[in-house]
Amino acid sequence: MTAQQIAVPDLVDPKSHLDHDMIEVWRRLRAEEPVYRHPAAAGRPGFWVISRHDDVARILRDDERFTSERGNVLATMLQGGDTGAGRMLAVTDGRHHTDLRSLLLQAFAPRALKDVTLRVRGLVRTLLTEAAERGECDFAKDIASVIPLETICDLLAVPVSDRREVLRLTKSALASDYESPGSDVDRMARGEILLYFTDLLRQRRRRPGTDPISLMATAEVGGRRLGDDDIVLNCYSLIMGGDETSRLSMIGAVRALVENPDQWRALKNREVTVESAGEEVLRWTTPTMHFGRSALVDVPVGERTIASGDLVTLWFTSANRDERAFSEPDRFDLSRSPNKHLSLGYGRHFCLGAHLGRVEINAMLDGLRTFVDDIEQTGPGRHIYSNFLSGMSSLPVTLKAAPARGADWQE
Ligand code: HEM
Repeated sequence: MTAQQIAVPDLVDPKSHLDHDMIEVWRRLRAEEPVYRHPAAAGRPGFWVISRHDDVARILRDDERFTSERGNVLATMLQGGDTGAGRMLAVTDGRHHTDLRSLLLQAFAPRALKDVTLRVRGLVRTLLTEAAERGECDFAKDIASVIPLETICDLLAVPVSDRREVLRLTKSALASDYESPGSDVDRMARGEILLYFTDLLRQRRRRPGTDPISLMATAEVGGRRLGDDDIVLNCYSLIMGGDETSRLSMIGAVRALVENPDQWRALKNREVTVESAGEEVLRWTTPTMHFGRSALVDVPVGERTIASGDLVTLWFTSANRDERAFSEPDRFDLSRSPNKHLSLGYGRHFCLGAHLGRVEINAMLDGLRTFVDDIEQTGPGRHIYSNFLSGMSSLPVTLKAAPARGADWQE
């Protein structure tokens, strides 16, 4: 059976990911064409589609034969590259990547995030208790959209008075809520974010603190100071990388808990740990559907050979449901163990914000089981529109307040 018969939709078109039964498409690709050649179309090249867990993990680990420097998502790879290549962490390889990553890790290591963690928990408590008092809310807009951005702004020490504007700009720059992404407004928003961080960087150069912007402004990386453009690009990637992903996971968690009342009860009755639940939420929601690489040499994968220079897309959304890696992959099981999901990547480019993302998701799960007695979805909700991110931008729910709130809550 070939993929033509499987009827693989155009994976570049954001609509395909909503209009098709992608769970079935991925299941068949994994079984019948795990290394699939996506055809070229209207001025854009073809690319490989890797759908099995072990192939995705092997390629993520193989930074000798695959590079991120020609882009790491479909949008930039198909355009011929990323303007941040060799400067922005996620699209930089080799020595500079290692040096820059070790610098930034100083701000992202669990020990450095202690205060930020406390603030996340405080925010979760306030938002959930207020929403439960009101009864009805849009979980995506009123709760989940606040936490990641506030948290990354805390980490970057963005002044509180600027945050509403930063949120507006990041939403506009990603434009995944709407059906016509890539407008001039979005491009302007991107430019405005870069300008905003250029300004903040100037202030940090004058008065450095301990945040990642100050770290990048004052440290030497590989024996030289980073230029303003490099620092601003990395700020942009931190805010983009840290905002939508955790937000989509939290929204997806609530949706999954509504759809799986047995798992909500297991969480509520503390039959599962928050840590194990958080990992299953990451697997189930897979906020970034794919990342990508370019081959530096010819590489055989399965029965095919990926030629030097070819673009390769790695579909986490499929790998995380691979029946070869997970038992009953289509079951949302908060006690799943082992749970080797790839939602945070693997290898050298493993998510820099993994601990922070987990802190946010786990605090939300802990908050829900502590402050909320029951969750009911009150309207249809809205899916985002993207070939990269997956999840919902609106999820109307009623949260019923738990009677004995907060006895088990630690801040
Ligand atoms: C890398 C997902 C949260 C910043 C990655 C990668 C994935 C990922 C899959 C690997 C990309 C690749 O291999 O090309 C997620 C998910 C998150 C999350 C699902 C939340 C649930 C965060 C947060 C931040 C962040 C909170 C920062 C505030 C980054 C950065 C990289 C990265 C800078 C590049 C690391 C490198 O290239 O060394 N993320 N992320 N992420 N993530 Fe995250």
